[in-house]
Amino acid sequence: MKVAFTSDNIAGASDSVFKAMMEAAQGDAMPYGNDDGTAQVAHRLSELFECDVDVFLVSTGTAANVLSISALTPPWGSVLCHSESHLLNDECTAPEFYTSGARFVGIGGADAKMDPTQLKKLVNQKIGDVHSCQPSVISLSQVTEVGSVYSLEEIRAITDVAKSVNLPVHMDGARFANALLALDCTPAEMTWKAGVDIVSFGATKNGVMAAEAIVIFKSSLEAKGISSEKVAKELGYRRKRGGHLHSKMRLLSSQMIAYLTDDLWRSNAAHANAMMTLLQDGLRRVPGVKINTPAQANMLFCTLPAGMAEYLLKEGFAFYGGRWEEGVIRLVTSFRTPQAGVEAFIVSAQAFAELSLSGTIA
Ligand SMILES: Cc1ncc(COP(=O)(O)O)c(C=O)c1O
Repeated sequence: MKVAFTSDNIAGASDSVFKAMMEAAQGDAMPYGNDDGTAQVAHRLSELFECDVDVFLVSTGTAANVLSISALTPPWGSVLCHSESHLLNDECTAPEFYTSGARFVGIGGADAKMDPTQLKKLVNQKIGDVHSCQPSVISLSQVTEVGSVYSLEEIRAITDVAKSVNLPVHMDGARFANALLALDCTPAEMTWKAGVDIVSFGATKNGVMAAEAIVIFKSSLEAKGISSEKVAKELGYRRKRGGHLHSKMRLLSSQMIAYLTDDLWRSNAAHANAMMTLLQDGLRRVPGVKINTPAQANMLFCTLPAGMAEYLLKEGFAFYGGRWEEGVIRLVTSFRTPQAGVEAFIVSAQAFAELSLSGTIA
């Protein structure tokens, strides 16, 4: 295989993360998150987000999302998210399972970003009507499912709607670092300062083996009249019940500490994003290739001319296609994507376009 753009999940983990796990595996440490490392993670994330936070480590992005949301919605609640979101389409009813059947409602909007006007309508619909599910949480994905990134103003447009009805806002930050670098702002600016109350702070896609942090911004929740203590307490039980309270939590916390040390999270995401810029710029120059949603972080959807995807696959590149409209493929770069691989992909795409223009390929 020349280079794979299948997902950022296909890359393993950064060396320092493995080293930290091996070091953490020595000796004894208290189990179930009562170890020093787990306390350190909470402290480090509090510093990173410049506020008082509660932190729950889990080992998958799905668990981070559904546990966060389940602590904020009753079973009769509705969770408003984009109709193309991962939460709605790719979590195999885990959201319904963990929330004991809450309704996940898809909101429209260009580039997989929720349209605040549609959102406003829904959060005010049938309130108090015992026959209807009641809006309980708003969840937005940053980076979105199509590779776009909400600007700070766009996040605020969503959170303003939430604020007007005191609903909590969750951010699916599976690609948090990639989005943050794209916006060139601070973690606080992209979250609680923009009205987000709880975030799934992803790390697995960006260089750790398996660790994600649910981060609760205590005062943001309190400002909406929601007891952060109650939410945190509930999350503790829900995480255990959901099978995500790891006995050897130190192995998760050591990954997260390594991720936050020496700005590994930033440098990994910076590389992934830079590779995507190179890839996108190169593909823009290839005749017949259409960029569907301009990539702002590390994911791109584009439409290839007939035959090009098959040609590139035969050349040894890997990516997802055939799941969307004719010719649409998804390309994702990671902290490990080699620059030479990106360049080779562009050269091959260009070669196909030239062969096709010259009539050598029908
Ligand atoms: C936006 C988004 N959220 C959540 C997840 C879920 O992560 P995991 O596969 O670790 O459960 C993914 C995984 O692809 C994702 O892309």
